[in-house]
Amino acid sequence: MDVKKNIAVLVSGGGTNLQALIDAEKDDRLKSGKIKLVLSSSPDAYALTRANDNGIETCVADKKKYPGRSEYCTALLNELDSRSIDLIILAGFMYILDSEFINRYKNAIINIHPALIPSFCGDGFYGIRVHEAALNYGVKLTGATAHFVTEVTDGGPIILQKAVEIKEGDTPQILQRRVMEQAEWQILPLAAELFCAGKLSVEGRTVKISE
Ligand code: GRF
Repeated sequence: MDVKKNIAVLVSGGGTNLQALIDAEKDDRLKSGKIKLVLSSSPDAYALTRANDNGIETCVADKKKYPGRSEYCTALLNELDSRSIDLIILAGFMYILDSEFINRYKNAIINIHPALIPSFCGDGFYGIRVHEAALNYGVKLTGATAHFVTEVTDGGPIILQKAVEIKEGDTPQILQRRVMEQAEWQILPLAAELFCAGKLSVEGRTVKISE
């Protein structure tokens, strides 16, 4: 049997996407990878409780304790390198990684963004702001995107996308929840499994998925 890939999930908040990954690993939808580490940028992230409840090793790298981005990213790299991590998943990780970090794990960092990239993405589009922007624009469809991370914020090659309908009377909070349930929690574990099973290859901006 093939050896499972080691996954690190980087979080800053509630960790519902982490939970989706944990659930997928439990019921074998994520069967080619193992969540080896949950690394949080904040000691108060509820995601840490989810990891502890499921016996997953945790580590806090409190970004407030580092003078700058470069020192912080070096500390993150040390934590990841020492655990032989194959895939890094950014699941609500509220920190922009530097080029050294991104190049070290080229095409091995996956982010989940709560919109259909290239809409409502890039600098300043995070959290509830993404859904406010979609509602303000009046689009009828939004969704989520799982993509590889490059130095361009939300600009890396797209792995999977799923569309979600906007309904009359939606608030940003209602829409956020629907996008999570119908899109993020489905495509993120699937993207992780495809990566860990060796089924993804990147050609320019295009991600090819093999059978
Ligand atoms: C999600 O909406 C995700 O798309 C974005 O940050 C949010 C994280 O939520 N990148 P959670 O911590 O997984 O609940």
